[in-house]
Amino acid sequence: MELTFFMVKPDAVAAGHVQRIVDYLKEFGFEIIARKQKTLTRHDALFLYPMHINCDFFEDLVAFITSGPSELFVLKRHSSTDFLNQLVGKSDPSQNDEHTLRKRFGTNIRKNAVHSPNSAENAIRELAYFFSEGGWY
Ligand code: CMP
Repeated sequence: MELTFFMVKPDAVAAGHVQRIVDYLKEFGFEIIARKQKTLTRHDALFLYPMHINCDFFEDLVAFITSGPSELFVLKRHSSTDFLNQLVGKSDPSQNDEHTLRKRFGTNIRKNAVHSPNSAENAIRELAYFFSEGGWY
């Protein structure tokens, strides 16, 4: 069993989708170990998206991700990060299969409802950053 990090972004929190997303994750065998609500800061956005800092869309991304509360999770499952990425889907909701969270709950490439770490290494990095006070890492 492996822990991973997961986040419901401000668009999906504001739309009231958190419980449906949690129920969907549980259907696929994810256990919720910890959760908390947090409005991300610019510092948090720089931590989460270092690879996008020089992209044209970076300021739009920061404005969106800091625009309201997100719901953050520690999840547990076999092959949790790989499986979570399949369930989340690609950045653009319109490019995804029906079963993905982004197709179901996302609006567009920016307002795409959920975040998952793109590797097991990043999962540990993100858990350590957002959940260190809980003693999970
Ligand atoms: P995600 O795949 O979670 O991580 C990178 C984020 O950058 C992505 O979600 C989008 O929210 C954002 N992003 C990527 N491409 C664009 C784009 N062309 N315009 C706006 N935001 C983008």
